[in-house]
Amino acid sequence: NWTMARFLDQEIARIRDLVGPEGQVLGAVSGGVDSTVAAKLMKEAIGDRFWAVLVNNGVMRLDECEQVERDLKQHLGINLTVIDASKDFLEGLKGLHDPEQKRKFIGGKFIDSGKGTKIGFFLQGTLYPDVIESLSFKGPSATIKTHHNVGGLPERMTNGQGLQLIEPLRSLYKDEVRELGRTLGIHEELVMRHPFPGPGIAVRILGEVTEEKVRIARQADHIFISEIRKAGLYDQISQAYAAVDPSRAVGVMGDKRVYGYIIILRAVTTTDFMTAEAFNFPWEFLQRVMNRIVNEVNGVCRVTYDITSKPPGTIELE
Ligand code: XMP
Repeated sequence: NWTMARFLDQEIARIRDLVGPEGQVLGAVSGGVDSTVAAKLMKEAIGDRFWAVLVNNGVMRLDECEQVERDLKQHLGINLTVIDASKDFLEGLKGLHDPEQKRKFIGGKFIDSGKGTKIGFFLQGTLYPDVIESLSFKGPSATIKTHHNVGGLPERMTNGQGLQLIEPLRSLYKDEVRELGRTLGIHEELVMRHPFPGPGIAVRILGEVTEEKVRIARQADHIFISEIRKAGLYDQISQAYAAVDPSRAVGVMGDKRVYGYIIILRAVTTTDFMTAEAFNFPWEFLQRVMNRIVNEVNGVCRVTYDITSKPPGTIELE
């Protein structure tokens, strides 16, 4: 019979076998559950021959880079290198309006972080739903959305550099990944973290990403998530974030007319991330978040709550 402990043992054996006694593995981590669990698994399998790389792509959440460093290095003992590429990313994102172009740019940039190393394997925290979604959407018509952990990245990596892909979570659903994380001794708060997409808040800023919009998205998101935690709702919600609508609206603050960005709050519940429902917040909660965001985040004059289910909406806005 299948148990998580047995799955873990089998995966560790499979990885050791695949990588060999000398092989080295590179893996980009984001601080999210999937890449953290995958990284910890590699650490258990091959120790410091696994190299975790955190690329600060300039579109991570507020203070997230420091937090990931603490979690992975100190708490989990993972061999982690942080590369600050935020300037490069933000520069490269300039002028990109199309969601697919933004994703491809960010995915492509990650490949560069592995170039020139003697490492033969690349770790990806791909889950079962990512595999299914990418397969089913990749008809002759068009890719609906490129998941960078399934789409362009692996092919380009294997063709271009002879890097072999390791995807230890490929057969698991999210709740199973969390269970595996617990089995690996990862602390509960990290195991329960909401997923965060690889392209970061770049897909939560509609259209062109600018430093100002990144600041606004970060601050608003931080307020929203803090209030969700304070209200004890975090674990009831599968994923939540604040996004920036780049069109602006007129408002009045104090006795002045203002012209500011619109924040779109999104919070969903789901079991498999393939379908989802908007979370039913108490009205007072939404009012409190709205008040804090318009008062504390410069440049915002409206807050909306997205009640769209998936389908037809996706969880992310792009
Ligand atoms: P959607 O927006 O397709 O998202 O309903 C489903 C789940 O996948 C996450 N997501 C991504 N994760 N790279 C990732 O690592 C991506 O490009 C990407 N796009 C969506 C999303 O956050 C949600 O959990």
